Amino acid sequence: MHLITAKARLSPNVTRLEVQAPRIADIRQAGQFVIVRRGEGAERIPLTIADSDPAAGTIALVIQAVGKSTRELVALEPGQTIQDIAGPLGHPTELIRQGHALCIGGGVGTAVVHPIVQTLARHKVRVTSIIGGRAKEWVIFEPELRRFGEVVVCTDDGSYGRKGFVTQAAADLLAAGGIDIVYAVGPVPMMRAVVNLTRPLGVRTIVSLNPLMVDGTGMCGGCRVSVGGRDFFACVDGPEFDGHQVDFDLLADRQTSYREFEQAANACGPAGCRVGLTHA
Ligand code: NAD
Ligand code: FES
Repeated sequence: MHLITAKARLSPNVTRLEVQAPRIADIRQAGQFVIVRRGEGAERIPLTIADSDPAAGTIALVIQAVGKSTRELVALEPGQTIQDIAGPLGHPTELIRQGHALCIGGGVGTAVVHPIVQTLARHKVRVTSIIGGRAKEWVIFEPELRRFGEVVVCTDDGSYGRKGFVTQAAADLLAAGGIDIVYAVGPVPMMRAVVNLTRPLGVRTIVSLNPLMVDGTGMCGGCRVSVGGRDFFACVDGPEFDGHQVDFDLLADRQTSYREFEQAANACGPAGCRVGLTHA
């Protein structure tokens, strides 16, 4: 059992939970994630480890409430527990040791970017972050990222920071030159747009993929992605890959595959859904 020690609402549908998981807090690295099961029979939900406090033995989980299971998870309060947290899973982020990194976070993907920025800055790499949300209240992790370097904030409606998508700000920065690597995490169309910017410039670009995951062990095949014409499982081979090699069409297609199950799950009552598929 993992005790929830703190809870904060970051945006209208994004919540941060601090959860006791001392072993994971000690060894987690940027890019890694956990699979969480709230209780017996509950769905397994993959969540990035946005931060950790080894002294307190806690990890920070950032959850976007988009389906039945994630809504139930964010309804938990400090003092309550999560039954299982498996991890850390996945490969740590490929990090540069010198130069200038551009880290781009779209919406809730900004939580995935945070540990990457944190680790790059620890290695004395210069970091510029570009983060975006639909409007001011959807922008997350801005104060945390400002501790590690320059931050450009964008909102789709111009209610805060620069008006427009993160990719517009990224295009300007890339045009100025001097960027050695780009890390991009967010919605699939955003990551696709970023790699379309960096490919002609030859700037290495790492993206974090979040296809449907079920077991997180490479057994079920649910998280299959195509990279460089070869099949990989995001849970054990990723979740981060060379963005220039990713088949984003397949990824977008597979993300929509389970939509009718999600809708069925959302229609389920408190007793829960029994379709047996993930619908986080
Ligand atoms: P959102 O739709 O609100 O978009 C967030 C920002 O991304 C926008 O403000 C904009 O700056 C940028 N963006 C969106 N569409 C774009 C486009 N077509 N071109 C360029 N930039 C674009 O995002 P959200 O609701 O916070 O996030 C939801 C999505 O993020 C889901 O699809 C989810 O699967 C994905 N996600 C991905 C990861 C990951 O590891 N890749 C992690 C969490 C969530
Ligand atoms: Fe089952 Fe990756 S989640 S193979």
